[in-house]
Formats: sequence, structure tokens, C-alpha cells
Amino acid sequence: MTAKLNALPYEWLEEIINLAAEWIVVVDVNGIICYINQAYCEFLGTTIEEAVGKPVGNVIENSRMHVVVRTGQAEVASIQSIKGSEMVANRYPLYVQGELVGAVGTVMFRNAQDWLEYSQKVQPLVEELKYYKTRFERELRGKYRFSDLIGQSPRFLEAKHLAERVSGSQSAVLLLGESGTGKELFAHAIHNNSVRSPFPFVRVNCASIPEHLLESELFGYEEGAFTGAKRGGKKGKFELAHRGTLFLDEVGDMPLPMQSKLLRALQEKEIERIGGHAPVLVDVRIIAATHRNLEQMVEEGRFRQDLYYRLNVMKIEIPPLRERKADIGPISRVLLEKLGRKFNRHGIMLAGDVVQQLQQHNWPGNIRELENVLERAVNVLEGPVIGLHHLPLYLQDDMAVAHREHRPPVSCTQKNPALLPLKDAVAAAEREAIMLALQFAQGNKVQAARLLGIGKTSLYDKCKLYGID
Ligand SMILES: Nc1ncnc2c1ncn2[C@@H]1O[C@H](COP(=O)(O)OP(=O)(O)OP(=O)(O)O)[C@@H](O)[C@H]1O
Ligand SMILES: [Mg+2]
Repeated sequence: MTAKLNALPYEWLEEIINLAAEWIVVVDVNGIICYINQAYCEFLGTTIEEAVGKPVGNVIENSRMHVVVRTGQAEVASIQSIKGSEMVANRYPLYVQGELVGAVGTVMFRNAQDWLEYSQKVQPLVEELKYYKTRFERELRGKYRFSDLIGQSPRFLEAKHLAERVSGSQSAVLLLGESGTGKELFAHAIHNNSVRSPFPFVRVNCASIPEHLLESELFGYEEGAFTGAKRGGKKGKFELAHRGTLFLDEVGDMPLPMQSKLLRALQEKEIERIGGHAPVLVDVRIIAATHRNLEQMVEEGRFRQDLYYRLNVMKIEIPPLRERKADIGPISRVLLEKLGRKFNRHGIMLAGDVVQQLQQHNWPGNIRELENVLERAVNVLEGPVIGLHHLPLYLQDDMAVAHREHRPPVSCTQKNPALLPLKDAVAAAEREAIMLALQFAQGNKVQAARLLGIGKTSLYDKCKLYGID
């Protein structure tokens, strides 16, 4: 190597140095400049003759070369302000035959133009990276809070209050409920209300990930663990959720072999990446959810009993919508606000009779079904009021029957059934409020009257008028 460099004429060497690092300075072990190139001197407003032999701090503003010769530590890409410009400087200790003899400093960007050209290339990449980083971080945060869980019916409130209480503990939580009842919302809310909220909330859908991928999804893998494994390996959801919450959604759909691996991870509190050699300690709180009957699955040998006990430390059962019909009105209103934001259509309301009629339906798909029905209605809506005819036919059928029972057709509703004479609209609203209060008070008329802020006799009269039993 040295022999080859010796073969180069001295002028070449100097030119090569100038090309490799446009600005360069070399100091000895005392921080005295022994070499500096012409371009650097021009920028500094000095000459090579003047600069060489002087302490570097006297020639270059904010220099840290004298520090590097003391510490022997390189300083890479450090920002250095020289003559009002922010420069990017690299400083390396110079070792010759194992001995620290000085330091070499280079400046990566000589002028604002250089920097600008570079930053114009790099800046979009940095922005893009920032965008994905915040998006990724946002994804990893719990999105919903308890205040987003709408409902006042007693069984729902019981579940919500239990969830609020357990959010403070570190125990595993098992959320049970039919499809669309809000299990995922509960999981988010529990995480957000816990001391783990500053850390990630990571969801794994055990039903949608193919069996052979679930293990690498949960535990990650090392580079070269299998063909197609990414360079540098990949973190699993357990590691991503470190210090936060791991939400095992649809846990009832997890294949038996994976159940054993999951159980081991929960017991040992450590995981092993596929192809890894050392276990990784993980601190996660588990929230699991399923719409399946796990107890029955345990009996049938389709779900490991020991895993069931591990997950079922705190069980929360979320009631289906048909068992809390009084919540349909308030939930619909919140969902409509959400849809209003999504479609930029604000102030959409339900006609008085619609809520009443929605309460007739059984809602096998629960709140998700209600959400879909309302979204469809918003899409076919001309004005701000959702009427019966905006609902899907299967709901209209249920309702047509109930509608005829309660109110004879009114002529002006023929053109647009959502539009009712004010008297009828007020009556429908009154009826709905009374029904809601009665359901909330579980049929107790004295309590319902108190909730409505009217006298008991007045409530009896109105019940008779509207045919409420
Ligand atoms: N109490 C609630 N208040 C308002 N919206 C709710 C409530 N519960 C659920 N939702 C809404 O209903 C939809 C379904 O909720 P979620 O996804 O949590 O249900 P799920 O129980 O996880 O269903 P699945 O078992 O099908 O996954 C969501 O869009 C959510 O915003
Ligand atoms: Mg879900």
C-alpha cells in the first residue's frame, strides 16, 4: 500500500486529497495545524502559510480538533458553525503504527449551495421517513378511550366499569362478545387507561394470519432463519409490544401448536426468534378476545385448558346489541357524527320513528352491522334526515309492520317519509325518550319519570297515549 502511494508524484497526492475531501485540516498531537488545503483557507480568509503552525482554535471557529487529539474519539457528521454557515464536519483521530499522532478534519459541505443540493436530495427521504415513523407510531398507540365506548344500559355499563377497574392491573384480560360488539374498542381503552399507555399497543389477528406465518409474526426471526427471511431479521409482535400491550384478537382461532408456543412465552416471559439462539426478555400485558365459546372449545380439546386459564384471569363479557336496545339511539348518533366527518356531511339525524324501528331488529352483526346500515343510509341520503326508506330492505320489512301498528300514513310523508308533520315528529321523539327511559329504568315507571323530569301521572298518561305497556 505504502509502496504504491510512494509511486505517486507529490502533486498528485495533494490533488487527490483535495478531491476526496474538499476542505481538509490536519493537526498534530498538540492541536497545531500541520496541513490545511487551499480551498479551506480561502473560505476562512487566510493563507496556508499563515495557518500552518498555529493552534487550530485560532484559525478555525468552533473547532474541536484539539479535543479529538485528546480523547482519541472520532466525531462524525457533527454540525459546526463557521462564519455563519452550518457545516457538517468529520473529525478522526490519526493513529500511525498504533500511536495517536494527531487528527484529520474534513468538512462535507463547503457552502450553502452544496448543502442545499444535498438536502434537496435527502430532505424528501427524511420527510418520507418521518411520515412513516409517525404513522407507524400512531398505529401502535391505542386509538380509543373509555369515553368512546357509548352505552348506558346496565349490562354494558357493568362491563365498561369492570374494564376500567382492570386497566390499572397487569393481569391478562379476556374479552368475550359476539362479532361487532366492540371487543377491539375495549382493548384499546384498557391499554390507554393503563400505565402502559405511553408504550405500544400491538394487535395480532390470530384468525387472519396463515398458520405457518403466525409464529414468525408473533416471535420474529433472525436473518437467514429461512429462505426469504429479511436481511437483519424481523421483530415479532411480542418484541414490538415490549412494555406495552399485546392484543391477541380472535384468540379462539389460534391453531393448537401455536397455543403451546404462546403458553410457553407467557409463562417464561421471554420469547425466542425463529432461528435465534438467545431468548429475548419481553414485558407485555396480554389482552385476548374472541367471539368463540372457549370453555366449550376446551372441553372439545380444541383449545388448551392451561392457556385458557392463563388468558382468563379477568373475564369481561360484552353484551350483544339486542340486549341493550336502549343504546341504539345514542350509539347511532355518535356513529352518524363519525360518518359525518368521514363523508363531510354534517348534521345528519335520524327521523323520530327510525330509532324506534331500529330497536325492533335483532342485530346479529351488532354495532358493526348498525354502522354499515347507517353508512349505507348516509350514502343514499339527499337531505339531512335518515328516514325508513333509507334503510336496507330487510330492515324496512321489520319496520313496515311496526310502523303501520303505531301510526297511520300521513299524506306529506308519501313523497319523503322522513319528513313528518311537526306534531308527529314531536310525538315520535317523546315516545322514543319514554321507551329509552323505561328500558334504562328496567320498567320502573317512577324511576323513568324521574329520569325524564316529568311527574308519574304525566308519564302514565303519555304511555297510554303512545300505547306503551
Ligand atoms: N360502545 C361503542 N360505542 C361506539 N361504537 C362502538 C362501540 N362498540 C363498538 N363500536 C363500533 O363498532 C365497530 C365494531 O367494533 P369492534 O371492531 O371493536 O368489534 P369486535 O367485537 O372486535 O368485532 P369482531 O369480533 O367482529 O372483530 C367498530 O367500528 C366500533 O367503532
Ligand atoms: Mg374485533
